[in-house]
Amino acid sequence: MSLGTTMKSSIGAKVLMAITGILLSLFVVGHMLGNLQVFLGPEKLNHYAETLQGLGPILWVIRFGLLTILLLHIGAAFRVTRMSKAARPVDYHQRKDLATSFAARTMMVSGVLLLLFVVYHILHFTTHTIDMAGVGELHDAEGRHDVYGMVVGGFQHLPTTAIYILAMLVLCVHLSHGVSSLLQTLGVRKESNASTVDKIGPIFASIIFIGNVSMPLAIFIGLIS
Ligand code: HEM
Repeated sequence: MSLGTTMKSSIGAKVLMAITGILLSLFVVGHMLGNLQVFLGPEKLNHYAETLQGLGPILWVIRFGLLTILLLHIGAAFRVTRMSKAARPVDYHQRKDLATSFAARTMMVSGVLLLLFVVYHILHFTTHTIDMAGVGELHDAEGRHDVYGMVVGGFQHLPTTAIYILAMLVLCVHLSHGVSSLLQTLGVRKESNASTVDKIGPIFASIIFIGNVSMPLAIFIGLIS
C-alpha cells in the first residue's frame, strides 16, 4: 500500500473512530443520567428501568446498534494503530511519546480494560451471572424488577464498589483523550481555538467521572440505602 493510500484509509478509520466515539459518549451520558435517578428513590429508578424493558423489540434494536457501534470503534482503533505504525519508517524509541499525554499513550490499554469492564458489568447487572455481593434477583412491592435494590445491594459491597470506581477512572482517562482527539479529527480544533478545545475532553471526562462515581460512593458510605 502506498503512503498516500495508507494516509487516506487511516483518516477514514480515524473519522469512523470519531463518529462511533461520539455515539458511545452519548450512550454514556444518557446511561448516567438515567442511573442518577437512584438519588430520587426506588420508585423513579424502577419505573425508568421498567419503561426501558417495556420497549421490547426496540430495546433489542438499540442493544444490537450499540454493539455494532462498539465493534466498529474497536475495529477502527486497531486499524489506526496498525497504520500509524506502518507509516512510521523507523521505530525510534524516544519519539514524540514524551510530548504526548499519559491518556493518549494508553488509549489501547484503557480501551481493553473498558471492554472487560462492560462484559463484567453486563454479567453483573443485566444477566446477574456475577453476584459477588449476594444480592440475588429482587422484585419491588409492585412486582417490578428492583433495579434500585440491586444497585444499592451491589454497592454496599466493598470489592464491587472498588471495581466500579477504578473502571470509572479508566473511563475518565479514555474519554479525556478520546473526546479531545475526535474534536481534532473532525476539524473542530484549530490553532486559534486550540487551548479552549483542548479543555473539552478533560472537562467532559471529569463530569462523567463525578456523576458515575457519585452513585457507588453515596451508596457505600450510606447516603443512599
Ligand atoms: C456507576 C456507574 C454505572 C451504574 C450504576 C450502571 C448501572 C447499570 C444498571 C443498573 C444496568 C442494568 C439495567 C437493568 O437491569 O434494567 C446497566 C446496564 C448496562 N450498562 Fe451500566 N452502569 C454504570 C456504568 C456504565 C458504563 C460506564 C457503561 C459503558 C461504558 C455501562 C454500560 C452498560 C450496558 C452496555 C448495559 C446493558 C444494557 C442492556 O441491558 O441493554 N454502564 N448499567
